[in-house]
Amino acid sequence: MNVETCVLERYSEGARTIQPALCCPVDYDRELLKLLPEEIIGKDYGCGDPSRYVRQGDVVLDLGSGGGKICYMTAQLVGQGGRVIGVDMNDTMLALARKYQAKMAMKLGEDRVSFRKGYIQDLALDVEAMERYLATHPVTDHRGLVELKDWQAAQRTSQPLIAGSSIDLVISNCVLNLVNDADKRQLVEEIYRVLKPGGRIAISDIVCDEPVPEHLKTDARLWSGCIAGAFQEQALVEAFVEAGFIAVKLDQWSAEPWQVVEGIEFRSVTLTALKGYGKECLDRGHAVIYRGPYAEVRDEEGHIFPRGQRIAVCERSFRTITEGPYCEDFIGIAPAILTEPVPWCAPPNTVRPPSITKGGRQAVGCAVSAACC
Ligand SMILES: C[S@@+](CC[C@H](N)C(=O)[O-])C[C@H]1O[C@@H](n2cnc3c(N)ncnc32)[C@H](O)[C@@H]1O
Repeated sequence: MNVETCVLERYSEGARTIQPALCCPVDYDRELLKLLPEEIIGKDYGCGDPSRYVRQGDVVLDLGSGGGKICYMTAQLVGQGGRVIGVDMNDTMLALARKYQAKMAMKLGEDRVSFRKGYIQDLALDVEAMERYLATHPVTDHRGLVELKDWQAAQRTSQPLIAGSSIDLVISNCVLNLVNDADKRQLVEEIYRVLKPGGRIAISDIVCDEPVPEHLKTDARLWSGCIAGAFQEQALVEAFVEAGFIAVKLDQWSAEPWQVVEGIEFRSVTLTALKGYGKECLDRGHAVIYRGPYAEVRDEEGHIFPRGQRIAVCERSFRTITEGPYCEDFIGIAPAILTEPVPWCAPPNTVRPPSITKGGRQAVGCAVSAACC
């Protein structure tokens, strides 16, 4: 059996009956679980808890939503006005998640969770719409195949399953490792595409400390069991940096491996990162001070921040640093009077003279609105 069929069959089985071999112990927030049906809690095949990164009002996308556990937990955190979308390609899993949708909507006070059928490496393609097309246009010859491809291309643009720049937070729990290696690059690019500027990710997944050899990769049971398709830990970080993410961080790391196969350690981690606010640099007199404890730090854009110095940054970088995951490590100083915007990105190590930031508003810690612009 090939890997893709095995993933499909194994998780269909997992939606029907609990599969202990697919369960990795996770310490979820018990308060959030109280509202969930027992069946969904039991059919949990996650390896981390990305729900802790959710903010009120977020539009959240859960990749490989399975029975819907993380979606229904997250729905309690986004509150009114927030929305949660789960994407999965498995009909049996989608049926399990949707079975409780009305009941959960009653408990939540509104229907803020939805489940869509799709492949997480191709988030533009609505697979249920494609199935409706195929019912009336069955592919029986080469011409039919070409027409299907044309239809898919048009559909991806005109009615994407998940629109570009529409999501505040992409989460996933133990799914990236199930995607074919050949599709992994497109998967990360798709995550980038659907996020709004400034959007965040929190991806819990299994990683390994050494590359997985070919004879393990072709073992369909090991692949569908979240082992053989795991990213090597450094390759996971690099894949997100290459796609354009910033502030990429291994935020959670299980000290104990979940499994060891032929001496290779497979463990659960949670990766966090940001999609930046674009590339435009408008200088308006902002500065940031790196608090330490290291002598200096460097970001993905090439800024260098020596400890304790007022370093000039553009308005966009100021926003990223003071609102994002760096905020605890920096003091942000907005000028008392904003200077006229100048299209200029200060070269690394440019010190902002105190005369410009004197009397300005200081952002100490992560007080978002106090800091901004
Ligand atoms: C290990 S389970 C995790 C389910 C869920 N996130 C949880 O925490 O219980 C993997 C899920 O991802 C789905 N899946 C696997 N590969 C997928 C793909 N390429 N696109 C969409 N869903 C996928 C499976 O159908 C299954 O529901």
